[in-house]
Amino acid sequence: MPEGEFTVYELVGGDVTFRALVDEFYRRVEADDALRALFPDDLAAGKEGQFLFLTQFFGGPARYAEQRGHPRLRMRHFPFAIDRHARSRWLSHMLAAIDVVGVQEPMRTIMRDYFERASEHMINVQEPLSPNDSEKR
Ligand code: HEM
Repeated sequence: MPEGEFTVYELVGGDVTFRALVDEFYRRVEADDALRALFPDDLAAGKEGQFLFLTQFFGGPARYAEQRGHPRLRMRHFPFAIDRHARSRWLSHMLAAIDVVGVQEPMRTIMRDYFERASEHMINVQEPLSPNDSEKR
């Protein structure tokens, strides 16, 4: 662990902080029509999965593994068409949620770096480049 004997999970405040993070993130997803369309009607199971995964990933209890098995996140995201626009909206909501919840440095940077890298990996729809690219993006 980068923070000596403590995990990121512990240093940011454990379950309470991750609940708040996931709540804030999902509030933003729900308010984002373009992104919301990608998610299923019922958000409850995915929201709980997100909480279980993130707490486990950042050094908390291995509840995701116990309840849902190996994360295999890229595979679990295949049913959803994730292009780079969706990824960047997703990422901006998560980074905003980290700040709203008040995660302090250096955990803030550790979490931001992870989300930036991992969300890139979740893109499963590549758009062809077109001549008017710079106007659209
Ligand atoms: C750091 C990157 C990401 C992580 C760690 C992550 C993590 C997760 C987890 C743990 C779940 C729940 C899986 C389960 O229920 O067992 C999930 C579901 C989902 N994620 Fe991601 N995700 C990431 C990026 C993205 C991106 C970029 C998008 C789309 C723009 C996305 C869209 C979704 C959708 C649509 C679901 C399904 C929700 C549901 O079934 O209710 N994710 N994600």
